[in-house]
Amino acid sequence: MASDRPIIRAENVSMEYARGGEVVRALGGLSLDVREGEILCIVGSSGCGKSTLLNIIAGFLKPTEGRVLLRDEPITGIDTRCGMIFQEYALFPWKTVQSNVEFGLKMKGVDKGTRRETAAKFIKLVGLEGFEKAYPAELSGGMRQRAALARSLANDPEILLMDEPFAAVDAMTRQLLQDQLVDIVAKTKKTVIFVTHSIDEALILSDRITVFSSRPGRVKAILKNDLPKPRSAAAQLSPRYLELKSQIWDSVQEEVLQQIALMERIQR
Ligand SMILES: Nc1ncnc2c1ncn2[C@@H]1O[C@H](COP(=O)(O)OP(=O)(O)O)[C@@H](O)[C@H]1O
Ligand SMILES: [Mg+2]
Repeated sequence: MASDRPIIRAENVSMEYARGGEVVRALGGLSLDVREGEILCIVGSSGCGKSTLLNIIAGFLKPTEGRVLLRDEPITGIDTRCGMIFQEYALFPWKTVQSNVEFGLKMKGVDKGTRRETAAKFIKLVGLEGFEKAYPAELSGGMRQRAALARSLANDPEILLMDEPFAAVDAMTRQLLQDQLVDIVAKTKKTVIFVTHSIDEALILSDRITVFSSRPGRVKAILKNDLPKPRSAAAQLSPRYLELKSQIWDSVQEEVLQQIALMERIQR
C-alpha cells in the first residue's frame, strides 16, 4: 500500500548536456514526488529526458539545476538504496546466474554462506530455480531480465529504477514479467519508478502514471491509476481502462506531435 510520504522528491530539476558546440536541454525544471511503496510509471516521447531523470536519481548524473531528495536528503552520488535495471541486461556474461546475483553482496563483503542463501532466495522469487549455474547467453531474454531483477533485489534497494526493462522481450514474456514484477513488488514492499513506452504496460503496473512533456522534460500530467488489482487481461477490456488509456494517449500524442514539429523546423 502506498503511503503519502515522498521517498523521492525532485525539485525543479534541469539538466543540460554539452554536445559538440551545442547545449541540449534534456530536463527543464521538473518537479515530482514519488510515494513510498508505489509503482510510478513514466511515459513520454522519445528524448524527453526519462532516462536522464533515472540517472540523476541513481546518482550517476548531477543535475545542472535543482536537486533530488531521497528521504529528505539530497542525493549526492550513487546510493545503494536505489537499484537500477536497464533495458539491456546488466549481467556479467562471464558469470553464472548465481555469481551475478551474488555480485553486489560480494562487493559489500558479505560472507559466502549468507551470499548463497540470499541469492537462492531471490533466484527462487524470480522463478529461476534450476538455472543457478547457467550463463546469461544460455538464457532467454525474459530469463535474463529476471536474473537482472534478482541481482538488483539481492542488494536490497528501497527503490527500483527500471528503464524500459521489458522493451526487448516478446509480448507474451512481457506480460509474464509484468505480472511477476507486481507480485514481487507487493512481497518485497519496494518503491518502483518504471519508464515505459507502452501505455498498456503503465496501466497494468502502476499506482500512478506521469506523462512527461517533450524536451525539455517536465511533468505534464499525473494520473492516479484506479483500476482494480490484480489487472488481468480482462481488465484491459473495461470501460475505465479504455478511458484512462485514451486520456494518457491524448496527453502523450500532443507532446509527440510537438516534438515532430520541432524537428521539422530544425531540419528546414
Ligand atoms: N550523454 C549525453 N550527451 C549529450 N546529450 C545527451 C546525453 N544523454 C542524453 N542526451 C540527450 O538528452 C535528451 C534526453 O535523453 P534521454 O534522457 O535519454 O531521453 P529518453 O530516455 O526520454 O528517451 C535527448 O535529446 C538525448 O539525445
Ligand atoms: Mg530512455
